[in-house]
Amino acid sequence: MSAELICFEPACRARYAISEVIYNCPRCGGLLEATYDFSGMDAPRLKRLWRERRMSNAPVDQSGVWRYRELIPFLSDPTREAVTLREGNTPLLDAPQAARYAGMDRLTFKHQGFNPTGSFKDNGMTCGAAQAVRLGMKRVACVSTGNTSASMAAYAAAGGLQPIIFIPHGNISYGKLAQALEYGAQTLQVEANFDQILKLVRILAERLGIYLLNSINPFRIEGQKTIIVEMMDQLDWQPPDWIVVPGGNLGNVSAFGKALTELHQLGFIERVPKLAVVQAAGAAPFHRFAQGGGGASFVSEDHPETLATAIKIGDPVSWPKAWREVHTTGGTTEQASEQEIADAKAVIGFCGIGCEPASAATLAGLRKLVAGGVVNPGERVVAVLTGNVLKDPDYIYRYHTGQLVSPAGEPISPTFGNHPIVVPNDADRISALLTTNA
Ligand code: F0G
Repeated sequence: MSAELICFEPACRARYAISEVIYNCPRCGGLLEATYDFSGMDAPRLKRLWRERRMSNAPVDQSGVWRYRELIPFLSDPTREAVTLREGNTPLLDAPQAARYAGMDRLTFKHQGFNPTGSFKDNGMTCGAAQAVRLGMKRVACVSTGNTSASMAAYAAAGGLQPIIFIPHGNISYGKLAQALEYGAQTLQVEANFDQILKLVRILAERLGIYLLNSINPFRIEGQKTIIVEMMDQLDWQPPDWIVVPGGNLGNVSAFGKALTELHQLGFIERVPKLAVVQAAGAAPFHRFAQGGGGASFVSEDHPETLATAIKIGDPVSWPKAWREVHTTGGTTEQASEQEIADAKAVIGFCGIGCEPASAATLAGLRKLVAGGVVNPGERVVAVLTGNVLKDPDYIYRYHTGQLVSPAGEPISPTFGNHPIVVPNDADRISALLTTNA
């Protein structure tokens, strides 16, 4: 199976060997994507094989990414080369309470927070780390709002690479920062925002020969494709009407669209679901672009602001790919306010599911899309929860105790607040309290 990199720009489409250390097209500067000769692919056979692999104890079969290795065939021998922590394998969870809140008959979450480091980044990082090793790189780097760095640190450690992470000083949750430290990453807190640091890291990666593992790296996108492949496998290859995903740097929606197109072209699914991307209102340049029909030039947001720090990004690198995917699937975009995200997150919590703030943008956005008549209550929707509930406990405590304040200084109402109660060490008084509240 031959694998190559190809320029994403329709007017260029230059091709490069996958052994080249490049992130943009050297000829035109466009984004790159992996491309393969998939001829002879037998979808029914592979569907059976992938089910059988779930019974296997081989690490590559247990991985919810490498199990689908026929669709990401860029390594010569994944059995030897894959760097795996048994990523993927994330569940589909029905959430009746969240469905009611959104105005839907039914709603299913695919919870990427069940990954080894607690976010969808692991699906991509297992591939990025493997590619770094095969290229003979010693050091890997990324700028991150937190999850990429936690994931990269873990996979670099697992693959014998040295991780260097760059994070916006004071703007990531302690859960994520703690993971990077624990996994041994050299951690640099830069006094700049995500978009500014990405430019800096690109210069440093080039100058110092460090492999860049942000989502501009096409091999990460290949891994994130398997979120969709696994989802379709779990749905017995019956696609939903909509897939809802939060948008930050827009790598995930790019990966989802690529996966859907490939699955459709190769005969795994009969139709392509629509992609709905939800951004935080304070960091929504892609939503604004899409509102304009994609005709105007892309205007980045110089000062993105949101408490959903994972998606606090104003200049998303993958917007051209993301736009193609939203457009070709007949999808849409939406934005959600700080209050809407916080309330949606609490509702997801009350389903016994839980997620980090950025993930809850999905439910908040879906609710608006249903209210606006874009999504019909009877349609089948899978919303992707991108990160684990424990990623940002500080946010949770503040919300439930009425102390959460938006970046603009406005208090966020604890609409579904659930604050802890301090009680004396006294059985009678506690009994009285619990009797009153029964
Ligand atoms: N949700 C979570 C929990 C994230 O961590 C991110 C991105 C997104 C959604 C948005 O995904 O960038 O592919 O559109 N986090 C990156 C990071 C930027 O550095 O961890 P995207």
